Amino acid sequence: MTTQRLDAQKLRADFAVFEELTNGRPVAYLDSASSTQKPRQVLDAMREFYEHSYANVHRGVYTLAERATAGYEGAREKVRAYINAPSNREVIFTRGATEALNLIAYSWGLENLGPGDVVVITELEHHANFVPWQFIAKKTGAQFAHIPIDDYGELQLDALDEIATRGNVKVVANNLVSNTLGTINPVEKLAVWAHEQGAIMVVDAAQAAPHRHIDVQALGCDFLAFSSHKVCGPSGVGALWGRRELLEEMQPFNLGGEMIRSVALDRTSWNELPYKFEAGTPAIAEAYGFGVALDYVSEIGLDAIEAHEHELVVTAMDRLGEIPGLRIFGPPAERRTGIVSFELEGVHPHDVAQILNWEGVAVRAGHHCTQPLMTRLGVAATTRASFYLYTIEEDIDRLIDGLLKVKETFA
Ligand SMILES: Cc1ncc(COP(=O)(O)O)c(C=O)c1O
Repeated sequence: MTTQRLDAQKLRADFAVFEELTNGRPVAYLDSASSTQKPRQVLDAMREFYEHSYANVHRGVYTLAERATAGYEGAREKVRAYINAPSNREVIFTRGATEALNLIAYSWGLENLGPGDVVVITELEHHANFVPWQFIAKKTGAQFAHIPIDDYGELQLDALDEIATRGNVKVVANNLVSNTLGTINPVEKLAVWAHEQGAIMVVDAAQAAPHRHIDVQALGCDFLAFSSHKVCGPSGVGALWGRRELLEEMQPFNLGGEMIRSVALDRTSWNELPYKFEAGTPAIAEAYGFGVALDYVSEIGLDAIEAHEHELVVTAMDRLGEIPGLRIFGPPAERRTGIVSFELEGVHPHDVAQILNWEGVAVRAGHHCTQPLMTRLGVAATTRASFYLYTIEEDIDRLIDGLLKVKETFA
């Protein structure tokens, strides 16, 4: 199979941010795992939408409202196609992955969990897929169990047998890709195990959907969440996919306009899917822009994006590995996406990031919303470089040069 390739240098022309020069150079933006830059195609489409197709959705019978609704619902269909969901009734627009995961934990968890049940997460979870489950487990009296990781940051699936003895496993919630280590997790296997236990499988795809093909049917999961802003789209919107039969049974998460069928003084009934879960005026133009962003990355090709990031991560890990006193966390390049977390002996990650910023290199330092993982790794924070379709090798050269300067400064 020949993999389609992308030309990152050429794609950078779509991103105005790379035209802005400091000391003759654009930013070496190595923080795409946090949020991605936005191409003109998305920004222009949103401006056009706001100028010529904007009104509130679903309620109006006039032309503008019909256009706005068509744009909004068209974006839902794009999300559906992007993750190969069976129906767009199963696609709910949320504010992002965090809200999507809270929606499941509250709406499904509060109704279905109780004493004797077990909620299983992993030591690698982002707080967005950790804290809601911990909270709902406490509230309902369910146990909160975690799958531990090995020293490479990979899940130790042999712990599953023991976890199954603790009670009725009802939820398994796991990220497809770790935002801190880039680890690609065996979600399909976990989904099979979850279903053998009679549990639901919840997939946090915030770090996977921008970088790899997602097929909810092939994954065999029950829910999947991701955010627009990590896929070149606007912030403030994201998507939750859920199996129809589960969504039908669940109570709404937010209450108000749009999500009702009828309201009387003594009772209210709920709208049909997906509107039952979309209370209030949604992020209309943002959802539209999300759809355009999915078109943008799909046109470049997810295989090409994955291959490009793989080349970058191999180069980055090789070169970082040559710096004395630098320790890389996580699995080998073959089993991770374009994310590298590391520590430089004797220098706090915030100082590393600060000095790199002076060189025009943008990286993230901190716990990356994965404090339990930091505890497991025995560090308070790491420095993280993350790549996307517009990252070029020169960005990595600049990261390495910058790190050598950090070492000099702290020598
Ligand atoms: C793995 C993972 N899950 C969930 C989230 C939360 O996404 P958002 O902040 O867009 O809701 C993030 C964001 O960094 C993430 O990396």
